[in-house]
Amino acid sequence: MSSTIDQAKEAAGRAAAELVSPAMRVGLGTGSTVHWTIVALGERAAALELTCVATSARTEALARELGLRVVTPDEAGRLDITIDGADEVDEAANLTKGGGGAHTREKIVAAMAARFVVVVDDSKLVPQLGPFGTPLEVLDFAPGVVSDAVRALGALRVERVEQRSDNGNVLLRAYFPPIADPAALAAQLAAVPGLVEHGIFLGSTVDDVFVASMSGVRRLPGGR
Ligand code: 5RP
Repeated sequence: MSSTIDQAKEAAGRAAAELVSPAMRVGLGTGSTVHWTIVALGERAAALELTCVATSARTEALARELGLRVVTPDEAGRLDITIDGADEVDEAANLTKGGGGAHTREKIVAAMAARFVVVVDDSKLVPQLGPFGTPLEVLDFAPGVVSDAVRALGALRVERVEQRSDNGNVLLRAYFPPIADPAALAAQLAAVPGLVEHGIFLGSTVDDVFVASMSGVRRLPGGR
């Protein structure tokens, strides 16, 4: 029997799949919420004839197994829509992403899309980003040096994550106090040499957020 959160994830994921129409080029995110978007699209695969770009190896495997056509980002070029989950969503639709270590590919695929849609259960809503920890993908060359630089930006601690990214890079998690200015921190992190990508996605890149709770699915505007 599935939990309330599992049911909410399925509801949010399936609701966003309704935005997809035949022949669209679709970016597929990674995680247990967008899993249900992919399942819903797979159920209509023959009728939709989509061209999809996957943000991780596991999403690609699931999409192919369900009969969806998957191509590389370069083959797709532009996308009509990307749908993805998030670990935190603040009141301006700024996101923390990368709990599954896929945020670098997720950021690329989100930026390729005319519309970026986020699917979450309501446990992901926070007043300010930060408590989850900010995922970082860094080069293997000097993760300690990068961690020191991130601490110098205000991180209280930086932890190494066991897994590596699909790109073969090291994954870290940085714990900042509540992040009052995500755009400023995002710019500072982006300037750290050796830091491949951080998991702050600005609300200005988000079109819609589907939030599921016990009382149903709400669609909130993003910040774009
Ligand atoms: C993976 C991600 C996911 O979108 C995020 O972790 C949310 O996952 P879930 O829907 O399983 O809670 O950013 O890198």
